[in-house]
Amino acid sequence: MSASVTIRPAVRADAAELAALFTAQREHLRPWDPRRDHGFYTRAGQRARLTAVERDRAAGTAYRHLILEDGELAGEIAISNVVRRAFQSGNLGYWVAGERCGRGVATAAVGAMCRLAFGELELHRIEAATMLHNIGSQLVLDRNGFAPFGVAASYLRIAGSWCDHLLFQHIAEQPSAPLGRDELARRISLLADPQ
Ligand SMILES: CC(C)(COP(=O)(O)OP(=O)(O)OC[C@H]1O[C@@H](n2cnc3c(N)ncnc32)[C@H](O)[C@@H]1OP(=O)(O)O)[C@@H](O)C(=O)NCCC(=O)NCCS
Repeated sequence: MSASVTIRPAVRADAAELAALFTAQREHLRPWDPRRDHGFYTRAGQRARLTAVERDRAAGTAYRHLILEDGELAGEIAISNVVRRAFQSGNLGYWVAGERCGRGVATAAVGAMCRLAFGELELHRIEAATMLHNIGSQLVLDRNGFAPFGVAASYLRIAGSWCDHLLFQHIAEQPSAPLGRDELARRISLLADPQ
């Protein structure tokens, strides 16, 4: 387990550091991210992106945070598409720098985001989606009260192709007990291929 993982809101002043980290992580993130244009990797591009992040936070529609490991920038985590009224739900997404993977950073960051979402933000439900072969991300969700509930065909355009995704949800009052690797894999294969 990582020594100290915290999250804090991303702001415009983070633009230079985020541009540098996205540039360094380009190959690590390429298979999991939408295609990015050149401007995304620049300070100006990140400033524009973070201006929208601040606007969305003020509007209450999305909450993007930086993940810090021992105070150093390690990745991002966000709840977006927040819908209120009868739904009280949002979508979770996250990434961690390649050299910091495999030591609990994402698991801790998702835990922190769930506490924020179900506490201060008073959401009822968080949804997350992983590609079918993203076992690391599926384990992160399993360890944080999320349960897989379906497969959405052609759900997100990742690396230029529309990809099927496994859908997970975490209900505030009913966190799922962790299934563990083997049972999680069994449930996922049933969802992906019900015959
Ligand atoms: C997915 C991701 C966020 C996980 O971050 P992380 O900090 O490494 O996650 P954690 O260390 O908290 O937990 C990951 C677990 O999955 C395991 N794991 C990772 N990849 C795996 C794989 N291909 N097969 C089996 N297990 C795997 C890790 O060993 C770890 O389990 P352990 O604690 O038993 O060793 C990170 O790899 C990442 O940013 N990937 C690229 C972007 C991405 O996929 N984002 C999520 C989109 S849904």
